[in-house]
Amino acid sequence: MSLSSASTGVRQTDFRFRCIACGDLSDAASRDFRCAQCGDLLEIVYPKWKQAKPDAAQLKSTWRARRLSQSAVDLSGVWRFRDLLPALDEDQQAITLREGNTPLYELPRCARITGVPRLFAKHQGMNPTASFKDAGMTVAATFARRAGFRWVACASTGNTSASMAAYAARGGMRSLVLVPEGKISWSKLSQALDYGAVTCQLRTDFDGCLRLLQQLVLKAPVYQLNSINPFRLEGQKTLALELLEQLDWQPPDHIIVPGGNLGNSSAIGKALVEMHGLGLISRLPKLSVIQAEGANALVRTLREAGGKRLINVPAETRATAIRIGNPASWKKALHVLEATAGACEQVSEIEIAQAKAEIGAEGIGCEPASAVTLAGLKKLLAQGFVKPDETVVLVLTGNLLKDPDFTIDFHRGDMFGGESASSAALKPLRHPPIVLDATLDAVIGALERAE
Ligand code: F0G
Repeated sequence: MSLSSASTGVRQTDFRFRCIACGDLSDAASRDFRCAQCGDLLEIVYPKWKQAKPDAAQLKSTWRARRLSQSAVDLSGVWRFRDLLPALDEDQQAITLREGNTPLYELPRCARITGVPRLFAKHQGMNPTASFKDAGMTVAATFARRAGFRWVACASTGNTSASMAAYAARGGMRSLVLVPEGKISWSKLSQALDYGAVTCQLRTDFDGCLRLLQQLVLKAPVYQLNSINPFRLEGQKTLALELLEQLDWQPPDHIIVPGGNLGNSSAIGKALVEMHGLGLISRLPKLSVIQAEGANALVRTLREAGGKRLINVPAETRATAIRIGNPASWKKALHVLEATAGACEQVSEIEIAQAKAEIGAEGIGCEPASAVTLAGLKKLLAQGFVKPDETVVLVLTGNLLKDPDFTIDFHRGDMFGGESASSAALKPLRHPPIVLDATLDAVIGALERAE
């Protein structure tokens, strides 16, 4: 295999890298995107905003005007907000699949179930590869190509790899995917294969894949596209920008997001803090992170260690996208929880399955990891953290079709080992397929029984 020998980092333009722990500022990042001084994660900052703060009203009207444009960067729901992203060279093409531009749906049925009338879903599963990863990938893949890399790589629970493989293919780069063998959905794996990635199913979990990737990028000229890469998080910020624009810049009271490796919550929180600082919004929504009980590293880190040190957990959940026990961005996520006064909760497998079916019954659907948001909302309501008269936005991170096995097992009743008391409560939500003789009577009978 011939790997091009591109050097690290990118040419300096209008942004800098800042270490989240020691605050060290640098113009270039090392291959593993860790601080050269202390080894912690980096974030991207824009010193120019201090010298000349962008005008909020001007930004809003520029972003609105770009919606009428047919240029590739304006058709992207990410690059349309490029004023708050690392700048592209003038002659440089973004690698874009028209990501972003995702709908904000009302959830009338879930509103009735929860008693929260103003309940919305920002559906990131409506992105080109059907997950929120595309918003970050368009930015990070563009900067990978600009830095001259021929190979990009990631560890993944499935969605990152699908997205990375697509953007690498569009950008003329090769891609290397490391996924835990047998622990990601076939649907996501099939995307990586179709987009031409070299796909390695490793006999380990996600955390093992990520550890190996971090070693690999120091040895081979591959550019890492996990959310440790701060360009990813810059792109994912635009979820919040687009959401606030859809709400006419009236901040919701709560935004609720699933937590896995904790990059997305960190990105959304960074966007909210930046928007507030620039005067785009007048107050900060509370950003809350929900994890699966079986992959609850952040919950335990807060409860048992007061947020001082990460508590790793052996992750186990059928919401495979968030089956992560050693989240890389835990410090960034803690920071945004604190900055926005958000909460961190965990939900059970049964609560996830129930919430997923309830979102499905809205005619929207999502993958299991996304459904933790609705399950988490129910808990935050019970605790009084969310009030019924507040406005709540759930971030649905992935499309229903990402994990058909989960949906089919649920509806067939193959989940949770038969009819335990709590799974019996799920029965009214189940719509199993019915095998019948091909006769009119049989079908009419099925209709009558379903009434
Ligand atoms: N929801 C979905 C559908 C995901 O795929 C992920 C993460 C998350 C939520 C959690 O987001 O990691 O930023 O906290 N998926 C990664 C992957 C890890 O490899 O696809 P996070």
